[in-house]
This record gives sequence, structure tokens and C-alpha cells, in this order.
Amino acid sequence: MNKPLLFSLGFVIALIVASCKHEPPSATPTGGGGTPGVTTDSSICFERDILPIFVSGCARPGCHDAATAAEEYVLTDYTNIRRRGIVPGNANASEIYEVLVENNVSKRMPQAPNPPLSAEQISLVKRWIDAGAPNGTNCSQGPCDDAVFTYSGAIKPLVSTYCNGCHNSASPLGGVILDTYAGLKIVADNGKLIGSVNHNTGFSAMPKGGNKLSACQLSQFQKWVSAGALNN
Ligand code: HEC
Repeated sequence: MNKPLLFSLGFVIALIVASCKHEPPSATPTGGGGTPGVTTDSSICFERDILPIFVSGCARPGCHDAATAAEEYVLTDYTNIRRRGIVPGNANASEIYEVLVENNVSKRMPQAPNPPLSAEQISLVKRWIDAGAPNGTNCSQGPCDDAVFTYSGAIKPLVSTYCNGCHNSASPLGGVILDTYAGLKIVADNGKLIGSVNHNTGFSAMPKGGNKLSACQLSQFQKWVSAGALNN
């Protein structure tokens, strides 16, 4: 091998090693394929992991739903989410990520009085953008076991992922509060919880603007309500 070739090979290897250092510890890179400089994080699926964060946290009516499009951001579906503010492969250069970690509270999203996203949700968004912001639609539903249907083990995590951006106590849409047991118990008992998540006629379909929950998740809600919607 001649010297220039050896030098450029060494440079490429150095680049690969350097880029690995920036991976978050939880990422599971896979080998082969992909765009250079973009880490592959195959454990993240857009439809399953990322879309619910945007729908519940950002696409409230009056904020980033299609009708309002605040700051020209519509955050309801993959095509619109990818339209602006995302630099695939570089979360830190992406406005959509920057506003989540903004130190200046008046600029941070979601805006007060809505609660900020959880550290886990923010980290998911970062990993997804760093992985190139791909559109995963046909991914497995992930672990869901409808033999588990306690409030603490199944129901509370479900509503905090899919519902609380719009139904938090600080700013509850439709007057429905789901981030407290007491609030959730009201709609569990009056039939509106089951009616809305199953998209039954006579109820507003929930999560509003988002995908219908999976059959397993719907079964968890149904079993919890049938067993008395206990604070267990
Ligand atoms: C993007 C915002 C948004 C999300 C996410 C959302 N909701 Fe709603 N929800 C609303 C709004 C707005 C209303 C008021 C009725 C309407 O405009 O459809 C409402 C109304 C309701 C109602 C009353 C329905 C009726 O027919 O009276 C229930 C129950 C409800 N939501 C439950 C949920 C549950 C459970 C989830 C999560 C699985 C959820 N919502 C996610 C915005 C949202």
C-alpha cells in the first residue's frame, strides 16, 4: 500500500472511532449500511416511540396541530415533523431538539403551564434524530402484556405517554385530567375512557390526532376498568 492510501484509511478509522464517542450509552448501533456519520439506533421506532411524544406533548389544539401550526410547526405526523427544524444525524443542531433542552424557560417547549417532557422522552428524541430521524412504521409494538393491568404497572405509564400532554392538571383539554388517579377514575367510571380509546361512536376518539392504541393496550384499559379501576 502507498502512503497516501494508508493515511486516508487511518483518517477514516479515526473518524469512525471519534463518532462512536458521541453515542449515548443506551444506543444499540447495528453494523452495515446506513448513511456515513449517522448512527443506526434500531431500537427506536418512529410510530411507536417518537410520534406519541409529539402528538401528546406538542400537537395540542392551539399549539402545533394542523389548524394552529404555531411558528409554522405542525407536529402531527412524520412528513410534517420532518419538514423543518431537524438536521438528520445531528440533534444538537436541530431546532426541534434545542427547544426541548433550552435553559431559558420562556423559550422551552412544551411551554408553561404544560409540564416539560421527561428526561426519557427528551433522550428518545435525541437518539432518533442522531440516528437520522428515520420513519419506522412497521415495527413491533414492543413489550405489552395485558396480564398486567394495574394502575401503577400499566395504566399510569400509558396515560403519561399518550395522554398527559393534553390532559395534565395544569392545562386539561376538555376538562379531562388524566395525570392524577382521581381524574382518571372519573372517566373510567363514566365510560368515557373506554369509549374514547376504542373510538366508539358518541365519544371523541383518543388520543386526539394520534394512532389508535394497540389491541394489547386497549385490553389493559378494559381489564383495569372492569376490575374496578383501582389505585393499585
Ligand atoms: C392532542 C391532544 C390530546 C391527546 C394526546 C389526548 N386527548 Fe383526550 N381530549 C382532547 C381534547 C381537545 C378533548 C375535548 C373533546 C374534543 O375536542 O375532542 C379531549 C377529550 C377527552 C375525553 C372526553 C371524551 C368525550 O367523548 O367526552 C376523554 C375521556 C379523553 N380525552 C381521554 C384521552 C385519553 C385516554 C388519551 C390518551 C390515550 C387522550 N385523551 C389523549 C385532546 C387530547
